Amino acid sequence: MLVTQQPVLRRFWYALMPMTSLDDGPKPFTLLGEKLVLWKQADGTPAALQDRCCHRTAQLSKGFVEDGNIVCGYHGWTYDCSGACVKIPQSPGTAIPPGAKVKAFHCKEQYGYVWVALEEPLRDIPHFPEDGAPGYRRIFQFYQQWKTSPVRMMENSFDNSHFSFVHKANFGILDQPTPAPYEFRDTDYGFEAETTVPIRNPEASFRVTGTTEPITHRHLINRYYLPFCRRFGCTYPASGIDHIIYNCATPIDDENMILVQWLYRNDSEEACSTQELIDWDEAITAEDREILEATDPDACIDTRRRVEFHMPSDKPGLMIRKQLMDLLTAHGEVEVFRR
Ligand code: FES
Ligand code: CO
Repeated sequence: MLVTQQPVLRRFWYALMPMTSLDDGPKPFTLLGEKLVLWKQADGTPAALQDRCCHRTAQLSKGFVEDGNIVCGYHGWTYDCSGACVKIPQSPGTAIPPGAKVKAFHCKEQYGYVWVALEEPLRDIPHFPEDGAPGYRRIFQFYQQWKTSPVRMMENSFDNSHFSFVHKANFGILDQPTPAPYEFRDTDYGFEAETTVPIRNPEASFRVTGTTEPITHRHLINRYYLPFCRRFGCTYPASGIDHIIYNCATPIDDENMILVQWLYRNDSEEACSTQELIDWDEAITAEDREILEATDPDACIDTRRRVEFHMPSDKPGLMIRKQLMDLLTAHGEVEVFRR
């Protein structure tokens, strides 16, 4: 599936960058092939416009923010968050030409990130119940560009059969390649998948898991949110520690995405520090990234094409494909792919 060629994907919210990235001025971002400028307005809320001035096409992200509006760096034409040109500095007191406007997009802040939907969103940003809940701390783990597609990242994140291989250096058990099956539940946002998996617990992860057992368990309540968000709802039963990750795999174009990763923990900074948790998950995520960047980003979602083979543990990946196919069909689209 070529994400830039499926218009319905423009109707979802995606996490683009941390709000703090806008503290020192406007920033460019390419979402589904659409070039955007993001900036922080006077009231602190973010705004998103097409990154193209309607005067001589200069990128507005090369400009600056003044009184909460975005000013083009070429001749100073100024736009508000609706995209309307509100000032032409060379012609004070003269009417602004009718139609002098730049396309605006839905934009808001949630969970410390700027989220954008390119067209009227079909559903809300996924709900993270741990965010702000008593006893939980939020850790911004990553904001990384990966050379792969969101479908590849999403299915990898539900695929318990890769642990023994990709993650054999830390929690994967190489001689136990048969994964524990998931129990699936349908939800209105995608699906939920529950299982308990055994993991290796080397000394380096004692503070992460909260236990010193050499082999321990993860109880997982994972969730898939159509199209490209997921929850890794991990509890270590031996310690009662929750290690709950949310990801948004934000499509840049047909070959690149941004991985946004939030972590929620119900322990203290003294028990396991923010940096230790980032370092631990970063090493694991780097292993996934290494493999995923070596796959074809054009993941086939219409399984009738039979260009990829499957095994029983691919069930969540096949459910993701089916939900994406159903979404396309419901909006009169077929999968667009490279021939
Ligand atoms: Fe933007 Fe001229 S190109 S003001
Ligand atoms: Co992995």
